Amino acid sequence: RWVYVNGQFVRHGQAMVHVEDRGYQLADGIYEVWAVFNGALADSEGHFERLWRSLDELRIPHPMSRAALEVVLKEAVRRNRVREGLVYLQVTRGVAKRDHAFPHPSTPPAVVIVARGLDRAATEAKAAGGISVITTPENRWGRCDIKTVGLLPNALAKQAARERGAGEAWFVDDLGLVTEGASSNAWIVDGEGNLRTRDTNANILRGVTRRSVMDLLAKEGLTLQEKPFTPEEAKAAREAFITGAGSLVMPVVAVDGHPVGDGKPGPLATRLRALYIEHAQ
Ligand code: PDD
Repeated sequence: RWVYVNGQFVRHGQAMVHVEDRGYQLADGIYEVWAVFNGALADSEGHFERLWRSLDELRIPHPMSRAALEVVLKEAVRRNRVREGLVYLQVTRGVAKRDHAFPHPSTPPAVVIVARGLDRAATEAKAAGGISVITTPENRWGRCDIKTVGLLPNALAKQAARERGAGEAWFVDDLGLVTEGASSNAWIVDGEGNLRTRDTNANILRGVTRRSVMDLLAKEGLTLQEKPFTPEEAKAAREAFITGAGSLVMPVVAVDGHPVGDGKPGPLATRLRALYIEHAQ
């Protein structure tokens, strides 16, 4: 396997970053994840747009042009012969003597790209069964719209989910409303049959998959309420699911141990997964 580190492709086992990389010391960096279908980046445009926005919000210099970055990402996919999988890109503010404030503006940002293959048959089998989610108090910072590598609350939440046999953790804010998952956006078809997902004015990531699913819904003539929901509403919902570059559209069959609907993947979630995969191909 080959990974890209600061200007060159190196063997996965030999890939290294400096101990004074600000991503390592201060979580001073951002990332993006693209799904790969048939060797091509899914929802490429949306992820690039969010990448530039994350960099600009944190005033991290652009490491290279969009065109150059696209070439390197494609090369990472090609070299690793990834047909179905994921590409991870991370950009940090670079290497400098430890100091919380920014280093000299000439410090080059550090770029890492890792592409890896996924067994789509295995993920389809998982989707056919759906996943359980747990809920956990929201304890992240106030800028979850920036896709930073500061993921400790997300990592802890995901681990708590795993220890309880669940596939995702949903954060719940002070008002008792679900914000989003540790690495996905959260959706339900509520007890009245309304499809709902939280609005992005709240402190959540503006999911690229979420946006694409919204476009697919519009094409299908289906309506969506951008309105948050409580864990209780999710437990009483007809369906629930999550969206993200890693999970695509993944049915949720239980919330905190309570079955959602009949405890099987819902028809809309299943249909949206198929439509999304068709769109992403
Ligand atoms: N996570 N919310 C959070 C907190 C996320 O980390 C992600 C993505 C999403 C969904 O965004 P998108 O549809 O653009 O992938 C929502 C990636 C996949 C990850 O951390 O691996």
